[in-house]
Amino acid sequence: MKRNLKIVQLCVLVLGVASLASCSGGDREERLTKIRGVHGADEVGRGYVEVIPLSPGAQLYRDKTCNTCHGDDGIKGLLPSYPVIARQGEEYALQQMKDIQSGSRANGQSAAMKAVVQDITEEEMIILAEYIANELGGDAPIGTGVVDPESPGAVLFRTKTCTACHGKDAKSPILPTYPRIAGHTPEYVIQQMTDIKSGDRANSMAVMGMKGIMHLVTEEEIALLAEYISTVPR
Ligand code: HEC
Ligand code: HEC
Repeated sequence: MKRNLKIVQLCVLVLGVASLASCSGGDREERLTKIRGVHGADEVGRGYVEVIPLSPGAQLYRDKTCNTCHGDDGIKGLLPSYPVIARQGEEYALQQMKDIQSGSRANGQSAAMKAVVQDITEEEMIILAEYIANELGGDAPIGTGVVDPESPGAVLFRTKTCTACHGKDAKSPILPTYPRIAGHTPEYVIQQMTDIKSGDRANSMAVMGMKGIMHLVTEEEIALLAEYISTVPR
């Protein structure tokens, strides 16, 4: 008799837990997302939560406050003039971090980041660059995706030699130290192209290569190119 009572009690408990789990329905995903974080556990069972620790890159990205300016996903930055860094090439990303740290890249709003990367070691930068290239942003879309291959900006992109270095799709550069530019915001592209043209951004021999062709584009054309580049998926 006593044993039966125990079984009944257990059944009630199990049913209770099960209905609790199913009642919460819609908010469940929301709560799990909170628990998992962006890069947390995928394995979440009923009644227990297994939180898989963040990868070293993801951990550094948060610990070093990169997310405050570049967003948790590396896509939506604090300001529209900030770069989209998710899925940027590893070697390029590493070089830019070093250049911003050393001050050899000091254009635009680089100063904002310089203060933060001051005490980051080269080893940490390597981990961060790998994370940026392979993990950050997951497969979230980058670039508006509304590409018009006949728009004035698209035509300029083909005729002003941009494809020679950045690739036809704006994300297959000829060298791994060259940037993937697809999906950057128009504001960021305008800033960078203007700075490369004026010489304000002159952090590498490679950037000097691009400066050499900048006489081919006017301010209006830079704006058209920027509009187009922002539509191309990365
Ligand atoms: C205070 C804001 C801020 C913080 C914090 C910050 N950044 Fe940046 N970062 C910027 C800005 C602004 C730029 C672009 C500079 C410019 O205007 O030319 C940039 C540029 C970059 C670039 C080069 C992008 C490109 O396309 O050339 C990389 C890579 C990068 N940041 C990674 C990081 C990482 C990793 C961290 C954390 C260790 C970090 N940033 C922290 C603001 C920030
Ligand atoms: C000779 C090669 C070359 C050509 C041609 C060239 N670029 Fe570049 N571009 C580069 C390199 C290299 C960089 C990055 C420099 C560095 O290392 O900091 C760059 C940087 C950029 C950036 C900034 C990317 C970032 O993440 O900060 C944009 C935007 C850009 N190029 C657009 C263009 C457009 C548009 C054209 C055509 C008008 C063009 N480029 C032509 C080599 C080139």
